Amino acid sequence: MKNRVYIFDTTLRDGEQSPGASMNTEEKIKIAVQLQKLGVDIIEAGFAAASPGDFDAIRRICEVVDKSTVCSLARAVDKDIVKAAEALHDARKKRIHTFIATSPIHMRHKLKMEPEEVIRRAVEAVELACTFTDDVEFSCEDAGRSEIPFLKEILDAVIEAGATTLNIPDTVGYRLPQEMGSMIKELSDHVGERAVMSVHCHNDLGLAVANSLFCVMNGARQVECTINGLGERAGNAALEEIVMAIKTRSDIFENIETGINTKEIYPTSRLVAAITGIEPQPNKAIVGKNAFAHESGIHQDGMLKCQETYEIMRAEDIGLDKNRLVLGKHSGRHAFKDRLEALGFELSQEEIDKAFDRFKALADKKKEIFDDDLRMLIASEITNIPQAFELVGLQIADCSAGVPSAAVTIRHNGDTITDAGIGDGTIDAIFKTIDRISKHSGLLKDYRVEAVSQGKDALAKVVVNVQFDNSKTAVIGHGLSIDTMLASAKAYIGALNSYLSMLPADCRIESCEGV
Ligand code: KIV
Ligand code: ZN
Repeated sequence: MKNRVYIFDTTLRDGEQSPGASMNTEEKIKIAVQLQKLGVDIIEAGFAAASPGDFDAIRRICEVVDKSTVCSLARAVDKDIVKAAEALHDARKKRIHTFIATSPIHMRHKLKMEPEEVIRRAVEAVELACTFTDDVEFSCEDAGRSEIPFLKEILDAVIEAGATTLNIPDTVGYRLPQEMGSMIKELSDHVGERAVMSVHCHNDLGLAVANSLFCVMNGARQVECTINGLGERAGNAALEEIVMAIKTRSDIFENIETGINTKEIYPTSRLVAAITGIEPQPNKAIVGKNAFAHESGIHQDGMLKCQETYEIMRAEDIGLDKNRLVLGKHSGRHAFKDRLEALGFELSQEEIDKAFDRFKALADKKKEIFDDDLRMLIASEITNIPQAFELVGLQIADCSAGVPSAAVTIRHNGDTITDAGIGDGTIDAIFKTIDRISKHSGLLKDYRVEAVSQGKDALAKVVVNVQFDNSKTAVIGHGLSIDTMLASAKAYIGALNSYLSMLPADCRIESCEGV
């Protein structure tokens, strides 16, 4: 009999806490659907009480996810738990995840509470959560720096109150693998069959995955993790690394299995990178661009003779098709649709038609179209958020000779508006002109450009992070084009549309009146 380790994905909650990774509701829904396809057991969809946007995203995710459990985080306070329950109301399978800090440093300085009060709050929170669902998780925040006797005491109390999963986070990523392992051993021996032991490791010392694996070896049966290791500060344990370590070293993890369909790992990683704009480093294990690339002659020779000389996993196992050349300008709609299906996209006829038009336009300019080009095309062009502003045209002046300037044409509310402006550079001129037309002012926090695949005619992917109208959070926009300036304009307008889609309807400015 194999022992199941539940995979609890928190890309949409802890992952979203990565600087610059905020996502809009439609983007979160796309990721949640893909996480379900990947076989994630529990999707932490957000923190319902944190903002109306989080609340709405959880509620909408409950409508489309029917196999995975959908979870909301909640502090151990009544209003958070009630909000979580409201957001999860329509979920087929729901979990409330409540937490309070248990380390002396957090209790004394952050909560300013005595340990007895912390236990009382934890018990009350779990009891209230249990009135909404039988599936309640309790986390001891900063458990990594908490005292074991106190952890045993609070865990006993919350089990009594009805908690079914007990999570031990190494919130600040302080512990070493042996320490985490022996902590989990002692706690899971103490808890026994009364609840599922879970771990949640942060990566501040680069040990999140190693720590999580040691915990599994010592009795943890739920691991909390994120795609591409996204998360607060240095991130969380990377889902793909944990799952592939358990699979590849089944000689060590003899009786352990996860429910993950590993062939969905690469597509999921690409989708998350495309949406958040945060690319895994090239040498990142499992999903980095170089993870399966063999550069040196000796390695290539060995690989040709026998793949196992230098490869412990097959690229196919994670759903990576080695970026083979697929389509060109003569490919028809049928071949295009087949290829999208092979890549795992399930699109409506309208979306396929829209994507095919984009593909044709791209194939006119770019000779070779790779799988990664297609993935990007779909991820960045097919969006369900309302396109309040749409780029129609862009003209830029040769900035080597004089003042950089841009003329931009935008469609908005059925009107086509053209304006021109100057800037410190061409991109600045484009963005300032868009601001003037839209009457929203953006503060550019981050701008990145990179080539999607290979070749001089590679697609440029531009990702911008913009704070509009002095709002608290920045939004991400993506633009894709052979032309970097065009990609930049699309990215900026994409960010603007995303920002507007998150505003309550009565706050939207009818900006172009009178322009
Ligand atoms: O790192 C942490 O402690 C958390 C908890 C809220 C589970 O993210
Ligand atoms: Zn965390």
